Amino acid sequence: MGEPLVSRGRFVTLEGIDGSGKSTQADLLAAALNDAGTPVVRAREPGGTPLGEAVRGILLGDQAPVSDASEVLLFAAARAQLVGDVIAPALASGSWVVCDRFLDSSLAYQGGGRGIGIDVVAQVNTLAVGENMPDVTVLLRIDPESAAVRRAGADDRIEAEGIALQRRVAAAYDQIAAAEPNRVRGVDADRPEAEVHAEILGIVGGLT
Ligand code: TYD
Repeated sequence: MGEPLVSRGRFVTLEGIDGSGKSTQADLLAAALNDAGTPVVRAREPGGTPLGEAVRGILLGDQAPVSDASEVLLFAAARAQLVGDVIAPALASGSWVVCDRFLDSSLAYQGGGRGIGIDVVAQVNTLAVGENMPDVTVLLRIDPESAAVRRAGADDRIEAEGIALQRRVAAAYDQIAAAEPNRVRGVDADRPEAEVHAEILGIVGGLT
């Protein structure tokens, strides 16, 4: 068996509660990698494929009631499609992938936030994720109160549930980070964007 012709790209995910600044930091990171000549695919969850965007509409809109179990399965379905159609092919071609939210969002929001249990949600998601676990996950930590001020009103269905859910989600993220310290790296997100970006670059630089 020979070596693959192209070495597999790196998979970086950004996680955090709503208003932690993930999307901005994912954009800055992808741009920095691109400027350094690293091919990079920028993705986000839920979404990133036609099925994922449709599921996003169901999950974040308020047209239809969504039970907790349905929520887990719908996020997992969107994830399976994104992994199969976008993430796995990009990594196989040698491209890096920077994804705004991934598996840990389900572990933290549905597992911890909704109280379904991190282990149960992890088990359901093995079908969606397979071998495609992130090489590193940046966890943007911010106090739920400060995050709520930053978001100031632009709430989707999940965000609209308020600070108590965000607190449970933050606690679950901490639990995941404690269990997997090599993969999940916490960063204080309550600082100027450029400082947060520099710290993330330092973490990601360790992968090359
Ligand atoms: P997102 O669009 O990232 O919102 P924001 O940019 O405000 O963080 O995510 C939408 C919402 O979906 C967010 O409240 C987190 C939630 N979510 C889950 O509950 N489980 C999941 O698996 C994912 C991917 C997102």
